[in-house]
Amino acid sequence: MALLGLNIDHVATVREARKTNEPDPVWAATLAEIGGADGITLHLREDRRHVQERDLQLLRQTVTVKLNLELACDDAVLQIAAAARPHQATLVPERREEVTTEGGLDAAGQRERVGDAVKRLQDAGIVVSLFLDPDLRQIEMAAEMGAEAVELHTGAYAHATADFAGEQELATLLTSAAAVRNAGLTLHAGHGLTYRNVKPVATIPGMCELNIGHSIISRAIMVGLERAVRDMKRLIS
Ligand code: PXP
Repeated sequence: MALLGLNIDHVATVREARKTNEPDPVWAATLAEIGGADGITLHLREDRRHVQERDLQLLRQTVTVKLNLELACDDAVLQIAAAARPHQATLVPERREEVTTEGGLDAAGQRERVGDAVKRLQDAGIVVSLFLDPDLRQIEMAAEMGAEAVELHTGAYAHATADFAGEQELATLLTSAAAVRNAGLTLHAGHGLTYRNVKPVATIPGMCELNIGHSIISRAIMVGLERAVRDMKRLIS
C-alpha cells in the first residue's frame, strides 16, 4: 500500500498572501498526522514564496512521521537542508517564473550538479529522492548517481484531458515504475493527483509513496468552510 505524504506548501501560500501568522503549516502538519498522513512534504523555494526557513525548523522538531523536504540543487538551500537533516530530500528543478514545479529534474543533462547535490545530502544522513519525468534515461541516471528513490512526475497523466491520452500517460508511468523497481530504487509519485485520478497511480505495483498537496488542501477548504463560518457567526451574535 502506498504511503501518503501531504504537501503543505499551499497552507503557507495562504499565510504569505497576507504575510501574517495564519494558517500555520506547522499546525496543519499536526492535523495531517492526526488524519493519518504518513509524511509531511514541504518545498523550500529559493524565492521563499510560501514555505519559510522557520517552518522547516519547527516542522523538523514537531513532525513525527516522515519529513520530506523538496529543494533545488542550489548551494544555499542544500546547506540549509544538510543542517536541518529532514528524513528525506527530494531534488526538484526550480524556475522563479513557474507557478509550481512544472517538469522533472534533468538528472541526465545536469549530471555533475545533481550528482553533487545527491552526495551532499547523503553525507548529511538524508535519504535522497529525485523528482523525474517518466523517462527511462533519467531513471538510469538516478540509479547511477546512487539516489535511494525516484518520484515520478504524474503531471502529464493528471492533466491529460481525453481518456485515451490519460491511458497513454498511465502506460508510460507503468513502464517507468517498472524501471525504477528494476533499478532497485524506491518508487514514489506525485504532482496533480486528485481524488478522481489517484487510484490508478496508487495501484501501480511497488508504489511506496504519493505526495499530494493542492487537491487535499482544496478539499480541506470545502469541507471546513461551513464550520468556520458558523464559528465566526456565533462570535458576532
Ligand atoms: N511532488 C513534487 C515533487 C512537487 O513539486 C509537488 C508540487 O509542489 C507535489 C508533489 C504535489 O503536487 P500537487 O500540489 O499538485 O498535489
